Amino acid sequence: MTTALHDSAFLTAARGEQPDHTPVWFMRQAGRSLPEYLAVREGVTMLDSCMDPEMIVEITLQPVRRYGVDAAIFFSDIVLPLKAIGVDLDIVPGVGPVVANPVRTLEDVAAIPDLTPEQIPFITAAVQGLVAELAGINGGTPLIGFAGAPFTVASYLVEGGPSKEHAKTKAMMFSAPEVWDALMRKIGGIATAFLETQVAAGASAVQLFDSWAGALTPADYVRHVQPHSAAVLARIGELGVPRIHFGVGTANLLAEMGEAGADVVGVDWRTPLERAIPLVGDRAVQGNLDPTLVFAPTDVMTARAAEVIEAGRAAKGHIFNLGHGVIPSTDPDQLARLTAFVQGYPLD
Ligand code: CP3
Repeated sequence: MTTALHDSAFLTAARGEQPDHTPVWFMRQAGRSLPEYLAVREGVTMLDSCMDPEMIVEITLQPVRRYGVDAAIFFSDIVLPLKAIGVDLDIVPGVGPVVANPVRTLEDVAAIPDLTPEQIPFITAAVQGLVAELAGINGGTPLIGFAGAPFTVASYLVEGGPSKEHAKTKAMMFSAPEVWDALMRKIGGIATAFLETQVAAGASAVQLFDSWAGALTPADYVRHVQPHSAAVLARIGELGVPRIHFGVGTANLLAEMGEAGADVVGVDWRTPLERAIPLVGDRAVQGNLDPTLVFAPTDVMTARAAEVIEAGRAAKGHIFNLGHGVIPSTDPDQLARLTAFVQGYPLD
């Protein structure tokens, strides 16, 4: 890694050191809120675009060019590794991932292959291309790799698609622990291989998305989920890159998500950072402006962003983000103003 990259505000804050400005990026910064994204995606399915290195590079760079954010996030999806190993699934526009044959039994789990780097050459090529391009943007912009955490990916595999209650998933967890354990191990191995491939190709940080972990009680999280996420994060920790661990509605789980092995705990917008920071212990935090504040007048949005930055000062490190992904109807000009505001906010 170059010195410029190492010293970037994003990686400095992720290590828990003091950067010269609060680093900012946005979950789902690449996507439907950008006209240039809609133009590139025209006539190409989501999954096809995730397997085309040139498209991945272009789409990942779009928000970096437009906003000058402090980090790029690799354009892909949490179900892409499953697609790469042959699981019959699609990403349906406006719906999300849909799995043709939901996983129910030990035999179903055993039929899911492991992931090897040879199955995802387009990921390696795209990461390498991006790292080369990003080195020349704003003095060196880090690339965040990502994977879906075992629980969140399991929820799509077991439900067969998006769900609100995750009832079938949790029913498996409660009633068939041996199937659950095998499934979590399988997905954990796939997530690890997906992240290892991205880091080996040059990604300088990773985010493990356990978006739906907030559906669990702390006891169930600790017993049935945390060990599997911890195994993924431990392996990536050996590679020496910072690990961000994020979920939605996780006010009750922030300590446990930190203990799973994160360097940075992502906080959704519902939990004020002043409440989150004491819970995550000796770790940095990421977040957490309400994503709907972009629809407020700019001065209202930036006043609330200032509150987030001020609260973040009590943390070991703070990376500014929205509390969840960019909403597709977001005005990109508001995100440009928000980026400039955060980066220009005086820290002393
Ligand atoms: O953040 C980024 O800019 C990087 C790209 C990214 C995508 N998905 C692209 C995408 C990332 C990090 C993800 C992760 C992801 N995918 C998560 C975890 C993050 C979160 O939001 O909590 C989850 C739960 C998924 C599953 C998934 N894929 C959903 C719920 C959807 C949205 C369905 C819809 O159409 O509203 C997708 C599809 C998807 N993934 C899109 C994008 C840009 C939209 C598809 C399109 O543009 O056609």
